[in-house]
Amino acid sequence: MSNIDDKKLPHGEPEIDELTNDRYLEDHEYDGIRELDNKLPQWWLYLFYGTIIFALVYLVGYHLAEWWPLQEGEYKTEMAAAHEVKQATPEVTIDLENMVPMIAAADLASGKEIYDKICVTCHAPEAQGLVGPNMTDNYWIHGDSINNRITIKNLYDVVINGVIEKGMISYKDQLTPVQIQQVLSYILSLQGTKPVNAKAPQGKKYDTFG
Ligand code: HEC
Repeated sequence: MSNIDDKKLPHGEPEIDELTNDRYLEDHEYDGIRELDNKLPQWWLYLFYGTIIFALVYLVGYHLAEWWPLQEGEYKTEMAAAHEVKQATPEVTIDLENMVPMIAAADLASGKEIYDKICVTCHAPEAQGLVGPNMTDNYWIHGDSINNRITIKNLYDVVINGVIEKGMISYKDQLTPVQIQQVLSYILSLQGTKPVNAKAPQGKKYDTFG
């Protein structure tokens, strides 16, 4: 801000613009154009003072007194909390080798829910087969033909890896291991139900399950 009093006209009075009644600033003349000492609007000034107060509160609150945490601190706190939760909830480990079909009604119900939502489009409502094979008979494409038996593990591998060239995608990222076990248990509970319009058998006949 310029101090007008220092820059008075020779007779001591600041020079005033007749049109606006504002003072002229001394030494602010370029090519004959002179700058007026315009008053800043109140709202602008309050906004400006507001930013100064905000900056002070911010500086003290975040950097000096540390009333509030900085982003980095917040991040660390959240990570620590997540770590604790992780420690408290042990990871579900799937013992694929010893996996057996679930028989609890709640698991089968969850399995049916998943089936009706995702698998039904290709395997048909009663698992009688459509694009995908009929899964109610004892013919399977992906059984363990070497040992002549079919296990839930064989089917689990199909769901995890998919059979892309035949149109079945991998559900590894969509379903948890438990959900896969549930949906397969539901499918296996439909063995021998002989739905109408069942798709012709595909694959090899397996008499031993498990
Ligand atoms: C986009 C169509 C499609 C969807 C959706 C689909 N499948 Fe399949 N599925 C197939 C096809 C096609 C095959 C046959 C693969 C082959 O020929 O090797 C198959 C094969 C299978 C097999 C092996 C059957 C056998 O005879 O060995 C299982 C088990 C299976 N699907 C489970 C599921 C489950 C569980 C879901 C839902 C989470 C699902 N599929 C969703 C198309 C699909």
